[in-house]
Amino acid sequence: MKKNTRAAFIRHMLENEHTIEPTPEFSYKALIRSRQDYDEMYRRSIEDPEAFWAQMAAEHLDWFKLWDAVEEYDFTDERPYARYFRGGRLNASYNCLDRHLNGARRNKAALIWQGEPSEEVEVYTYQRLHREVCKAANMLKRLGVRRGDRVVLYLPMIPQLAIGMLACARIGAIHCVVFSGLSAEALKDRIDDSGATVVVTSNYGYRAGKILDLKGICDQALALCPQVKKCIVVRRIDKRTDMTVGRDLWWEDRMAAETSVCEPESMEATDPLFILYTSGSTAKPKGIVHGNGGYLLYAAVTSKYVFDLKESDVFWCTADVGWITGHSYLVYGALANGATSLMFEGVPTYPQPDRYWEVVEKFGVNVLYTAPTAIRSMMKEGEQWVNGHDIGSLRMLGSVGEPITSKAWLWYYSAIGQGRCPVADTWWQTESGGVMITTIPGAVDMKPGSAALPFFGVLPKVIGANGAEAATNEAGNLVVTRPWPGMALGVYRNDQAFKDVYFPTPGYYLTGDGAYRDEDGYFWITGRIDDVMNVSGHRIGTAEVESALVACLEVAEAAVVGYPHPVKGEGIYAYVTVREGAVIDDDLRARLVKSVRTTIGPIATPDVVHFARALPKTRSGKIMRRILRKIAARQTEDLCDVSTLSEPAVVDELIRDNERLIA
Ligand code: WTA
Repeated sequence: MKKNTRAAFIRHMLENEHTIEPTPEFSYKALIRSRQDYDEMYRRSIEDPEAFWAQMAAEHLDWFKLWDAVEEYDFTDERPYARYFRGGRLNASYNCLDRHLNGARRNKAALIWQGEPSEEVEVYTYQRLHREVCKAANMLKRLGVRRGDRVVLYLPMIPQLAIGMLACARIGAIHCVVFSGLSAEALKDRIDDSGATVVVTSNYGYRAGKILDLKGICDQALALCPQVKKCIVVRRIDKRTDMTVGRDLWWEDRMAAETSVCEPESMEATDPLFILYTSGSTAKPKGIVHGNGGYLLYAAVTSKYVFDLKESDVFWCTADVGWITGHSYLVYGALANGATSLMFEGVPTYPQPDRYWEVVEKFGVNVLYTAPTAIRSMMKEGEQWVNGHDIGSLRMLGSVGEPITSKAWLWYYSAIGQGRCPVADTWWQTESGGVMITTIPGAVDMKPGSAALPFFGVLPKVIGANGAEAATNEAGNLVVTRPWPGMALGVYRNDQAFKDVYFPTPGYYLTGDGAYRDEDGYFWITGRIDDVMNVSGHRIGTAEVESALVACLEVAEAAVVGYPHPVKGEGIYAYVTVREGAVIDDDLRARLVKSVRTTIGPIATPDVVHFARALPKTRSGKIMRRILRKIAARQTEDLCDVSTLSEPAVVDELIRDNERLIA
């Protein structure tokens, strides 16, 4: 589409709420070809979930032993739970690798890795990946890792991360990937909570041209984790690295000594496969646990239908494997389907804002799955960065991580998809294991900005203020009323948190998101309704940032809220009051920011630190976050009644300071 035509198209669409039909060319070749086919399959999945998932499980996974029960759950129990395929036995790495080795897929690319430096590319065929995973599994076994043990992987986007995960899965160890952008303290907390005794890291990493001292960060964490006996270090960059004798080992040296034969462990479907930490309303992130059977099936089936995966596709999920999207779509879902998954170490804007399109062109990417924050930043840079590249291989686009505005959606659809590729917005969460609400491509009409309809087996509902189901177009809490195979097994070693956070009301799973459902049954996600921010698609708890701020002695109180940010989606706004006698200056501000960066990581850096004399509180002393959010967002016309505050004048002061702070 030409630029002018496109601008006119976007304007027209924004002014008139239209739906967009998938093109007949796409639908004709799609796995699910019409709305009728989607409706029929959805109906079956809801009317007889046991038969539906049993069929899916038989078609999509190889089992060592079939299950005794397909689905068991109780959402009203003292300990709410859902379990799939109890008694069934399988191995996730076997399903992602071994079973593809008997036919044409043996020599197919499983993983194409593009390093940040353009010339660094590695291609792992299924056979090669299988061998590397077996060697890594043997290496872990030789270091004493056994079934059920936890292994922390603190690695950048390099193949060894996927290899490490699959190696753990192979021997029944539970992997716990920690995003390589998190700080030493965050890493330490996750090592402690998971009880891991082996950590895998790399000596360095690349981040937009800069070299990241990952091993240095890891050393700081390990200094406080005496329980960690071994640290395996991947040599990412040939550069001096301090190794602790007896504890630290080079990945390459150990791998060279291992054979590429390793029998996969036979795992119970409900045994844990991994732990992944995610933020909530509390100061400490929770370890979400996913299992071997239900999770893997859900990742596989959603990968196939949501992205209309074809045997010859190159599938590029841009998410970091440190988050759930990378787990479910870059690694498990793609490989379980025998697909070709692209892993990219770099960022969209380095060395230039056309990096994504260069990669798409270079590898002939067919399916691109990225996040609104990346889309917004590319939109901002302008389409000239796209135009220089032939991205005609793309046939399908996905979005995940936060609500996508209709404007960004339309830009993605027209500038990247050229009006040819369906766009699937995909709503889901770490806890859900895979996509829950989406636009099945080729089958379902798209509404820019709406996540659309539930995936098979998913029964979402919007609950209004009075606790009953909300009316059409009435906003409320998004809940899910029956389980699905990808649902988390629980919170690691914390059943109480699982119940308190997700089942405060017996009978349904509370997502933490707000939504409404329109007259066509389409879901529109409005964002988090709890104290969780979504910064560039990263989930960050306000309580986590507050706790890092109050760790500074000068700070009396801190209240953190999210506010609208043009590129990040939400920015972090910190209100801080200081103790008597403390000096408010740039040095204090810098120390506060540093404290957050070292406690959580650079992704949680506050955008605004607002020093206040006092915070708005109710007479009983509760901080009125609603007011703080409105001030940060500059929506002060409708502040409601502030007369119930213990000191109403504080509000005007804050508004004035805010205007001065962000002039
Ligand atoms: C938000 C990422 C609107 C939501 C897979 C959810 C979204 C949280 C969307 C989960 C979307 C994710 N539209 N909001 N398509 N996708 N979210 O656990 O608030 O990192 O609860 O999982 O991101 O983030 P998480």
